[in-house]
Amino acid sequence: MRIHTYEKLWIVGSMVLIVGFIVTITYGSVGLGITMIGNEEETIAPNELNDDEQFGEPRVEQIGEDEYAVYVVAQTFIFQPDPIEIPANNEITFHVTSRDVVHGFYVPGTNLNAMAIPGQISEMTVEFDDSGEYGLICHEYCGVSHHEMEGLIVVQP
Ligand code: CUA
Repeated sequence: MRIHTYEKLWIVGSMVLIVGFIVTITYGSVGLGITMIGNEEETIAPNELNDDEQFGEPRVEQIGEDEYAVYVVAQTFIFQPDPIEIPANNEITFHVTSRDVVHGFYVPGTNLNAMAIPGQISEMTVEFDDSGEYGLICHEYCGVSHHEMEGLIVVQP
C-alpha cells in the first residue's frame, strides 16, 4: 500500500501533537508548572482556633489607613464577633472559618457570600458605601438551629 506524502506528514504531525498532550498532562499532574486553583488557600486546624493569633480572638482590626481585617469564626449556631462593627468607605477584608461544621456567611443585599469551612479560611474584600445595619445569615444547612444562625454587621458612618 502506498501512502501519499502529504498523508504521511499529517500522520507524523498528529503523533507529535498526541505525544505533546500526553507529556503536558503527565507533567501537569505531578505538579510541574501547573497551579491548581485553590491550592494556595490558607488552611487552619479547627481544633486549634483558640490558640490562633487571629481566630483565637475573633475581631475587627485596623490594618492600614483605610483598611480593616475582620476575623470571623462561625460555629453552631453563632458568628463571632457579633456584632461586627466596621466603618463605611473603607476596604474591609473578611477572613472566615468554622469551628465545627460547614456554615454559610451571607449578607443579603450585598455580594458578601462565602462558605465557612472547618480547616479553611474564606477571604473576601468589600467596601460598604452606606452606613447602617446589615443582617448576616448562615445559608448552609448546619443543624437543628441553622435557621436561627445569624449575626449583625454595623457599618459606622
Ligand atoms: Cu450555620 Cu446554617
